[in-house]
Amino acid sequence: MMIAVAVLAAGRGTRMKSQLPKVLHPLGGRSLVEWVLQSVSELEPTHKIVIVGYAGEMVRQALQDLPQVQFVEQTEQLGTGHAVQQAMPLLENFTGDLLVLNGDVPLLRRETLKDLLRIHKTYGNAATILTAQIPDPRGYGRVICDGNNIVKQIIEDRDCTAAQKQNRRINAGVYCFNYPKLAEALPHLKSENDQQEFYLTDAVNDLEPVMAMDVEDYEEILGVNDRQQLATAYQILQRRIKQYWMMAGVTLVDPGSITIDDTVQLAPDVIVEPQTHLRGETVIGTGSRIGPGSYVENSQIAANVSVKFSVVTDSQVAADTEIGPYAHLRGQTQVGSHCRVGNFVELKQAKLGDQTKASHLSYLGDAQLGDQVNIGAGTITANYDGVQKHQTIIGNRSKTGANTVLVAPVKLGDNVTVAAGSTVTQDVLEPGLVIARARQIVKPGWQLKPPAP
Ligand code: UD1
Ligand code: CA
Repeated sequence: MMIAVAVLAAGRGTRMKSQLPKVLHPLGGRSLVEWVLQSVSELEPTHKIVIVGYAGEMVRQALQDLPQVQFVEQTEQLGTGHAVQQAMPLLENFTGDLLVLNGDVPLLRRETLKDLLRIHKTYGNAATILTAQIPDPRGYGRVICDGNNIVKQIIEDRDCTAAQKQNRRINAGVYCFNYPKLAEALPHLKSENDQQEFYLTDAVNDLEPVMAMDVEDYEEILGVNDRQQLATAYQILQRRIKQYWMMAGVTLVDPGSITIDDTVQLAPDVIVEPQTHLRGETVIGTGSRIGPGSYVENSQIAANVSVKFSVVTDSQVAADTEIGPYAHLRGQTQVGSHCRVGNFVELKQAKLGDQTKASHLSYLGDAQLGDQVNIGAGTITANYDGVQKHQTIIGNRSKTGANTVLVAPVKLGDNVTVAAGSTVTQDVLEPGLVIARARQIVKPGWQLKPPAP
């Protein structure tokens, strides 16, 4: 059976009290609406339609790299039913099923969607809607069914009588429609309700049969309407992600203090220590120990690396290297294998060969270091002349003494040693020692004059 998908993402999300449209709020590495689109990716839909409206341009831009997504504009947000009406021109002649998803229900599992589609097909329903029995149904539409899960009515929380509010079966905002039947019903929606909106949920009145399917784990269908629900969704997601990695052979020491984005990849026998946060497209190789107290974002860390009390963003670290304590790697830095970088060292767009060490109090920016280089304590690349950034290049086995300043652009060849306290302004291409500082003067017997009586 052919399936098309429509995601409702035009609402402002007033309850978020945010400049950002609700569906773009981030949740563990993806925005809410990206989560929703991700949940349908395996179904191979013929259409992926996202209905945008509030800050529509922003939503389009955020999703522009996703394959196959089509956008339709809902210029006025007149309700969820009105939103689906906007997708009708794109679905002309479509005779399959339309899966409609709210853009603010991010935790839905793929298996649940598959179950929904299976039931829809097995019973030949006009519509099958996902429901849940939840302890606190406040805010959700209530689903009134007969004994056989046949839906009689869906009533929004605000339109419910006191008695109807007692009903704990709620509408998850996930629907599978026989599209030709829905297309007939959609034009007849009325806005006779508390919000004077065209509710998609009223379409069930015109369709037969409509069946409800309860989700087993109601955490999946949490709708995010405010910041509290966003935080709750994050907790649920974190629990899922951590369970997954622990089952995959990763040690999490004190998991409650760790956060891991869904986009992160961890090899077996990685150890993540407390207070560590792994974000974005980060990959960590086997045997590596990250943390305690570290932040790694969009970085690739190979095997047997240790990262203690450090921040690593947009960078790569090769095997058997030690990072930290208190290092900061950023801006496409690449560190080779068997290196040491720590104790208040910052690397920005720096490339270090293998077995190179920068162990104390340094800034290396726009720098290329060879193998077995030793950077003395307090070595600084002066890479910025106030207008432009310049490169520092250091060859294999070279060493800088403590408190060296390398004024870029500058190049040291292989086997160059820089004396402590030097300010190097010119290239040193041959092996040797460079001393670039004032010679020490000692005046024997010199003393302060005693003050005049
Ligand atoms: C909706 C359902 C409710 C269900 C709940 C589940 C309706 C009428 N109610 O309520 O039964 O329990 O979801 O989470 O459908 N949107 C548009 N255009 C609009 C209005 C909304 O695109 O004109 C989008 C929003 O961006 C959002 C989604 O539709 O992603 C749901 O809208 P929202 O206002 O959050 O509906 P709820 O009140 O939560
Ligand atoms: Ca909602």
